[in-house]
Amino acid sequence: MKTIIVTGASSGVGQAAVTQFSRQGFNVFGLARHATQQPQLPNVHMIDVDLTDAEQVKSAVAQILTLTDHIDVLANIAGTAVNGAIEQVPITEAKQTFDVNVFGTLTLIQQTLPTMRRQGHGRIITVSSMVNQVVQPFFGWYAATKAALDVLSDDLRAEVQQFGIQVSVLQPGGIETPMASQSDAFLKYGTHAYARLAAKVHQAMTTTATKNLTPEQVATLIYQVATTRKPQYYYPVGYGARAAVIANRLLPKRLLTKIALGGFKSSKAVKGGAANVLNQ
Ligand SMILES: NC(=O)c1ccc[n+]([C@@H]2O[C@H](COP(=O)([O-])OP(=O)(O)OC[C@H]3O[C@@H](n4cnc5c(N)ncnc54)[C@H](OP(=O)(O)O)[C@@H]3O)[C@@H](O)[C@H]2O)c1
Repeated sequence: MKTIIVTGASSGVGQAAVTQFSRQGFNVFGLARHATQQPQLPNVHMIDVDLTDAEQVKSAVAQILTLTDHIDVLANIAGTAVNGAIEQVPITEAKQTFDVNVFGTLTLIQQTLPTMRRQGHGRIITVSSMVNQVVQPFFGWYAATKAALDVLSDDLRAEVQQFGIQVSVLQPGGIETPMASQSDAFLKYGTHAYARLAAKVHQAMTTTATKNLTPEQVATLIYQVATTRKPQYYYPVGYGARAAVIANRLLPKRLLTKIALGGFKSSKAVKGGAANVLNQ
């Protein structure tokens, strides 16, 4: 029986992935701070872990290795977001976001790699985001954590391919989960001089929210990545994801910035260009 570790198992995409892999007969270890509060499913072991606590991560992996001698797949799905003007987001909250998304994820990767190396195979699938492929005001801190994951995944892949370990990154657009419904929290840190631009971004996001993916669609993709013979390095998915990746590769940043601000320029408040808004 194949074994998978799924983080973010208590909500959204991670919860859907636990269900999906359980149905497909995997031996599933679901990790989250509130994992054991979830309903029991066949072949699923839930473990309460705060990814920002290295000792908890170590002891969770040790616990898993008392129940199985192999880890075929690690699905890094857990994540958190702080949104708002880069100037206004408190550095403590920005650090906390890096702690969960980057250092927490990498702590677990470090703990699972020895087993994957020993067995001579393994798959590491990390959920990043499309947000770091576009210029997106108020999402900078969160996007930076995901960009860090992309870079670390590229270098990790080059290091561990020799051991038969494959590394894939999903770059989804919006997903209908608790995180998406809290994404307008940037209005909290998009005030005063930033309030008008924040209102435009909010309006644009409300319009595209109907095009969000479902957590089940993303979980199905994770299952495909886990089981396909030759997984891709990157999977941009969801509304506008492929176009964003291509635009990011081909267009100069000046134009990408104009497009981002042009997309939010829909009232007299920002007439005369985004610079008027940004300079207030
Ligand atoms: N929703 C979107 O629009 C969207 C778009 C693109 C990418 N993504 C990415 O997709 C992934 C899944 O997000 P989602 O939308 O499913 O979010 P979600 O419903 O808010 O779930 C986040 C999960 O992360 C876990 N988590 C948070 N902090 C943790 C910590 N310190 N230690 C351990 N687990 C922690 C949470 O569990 P506990 O609270 O129980 O710890 C929860 O299970 C994330 O990486 C997110 O960045 C989301």
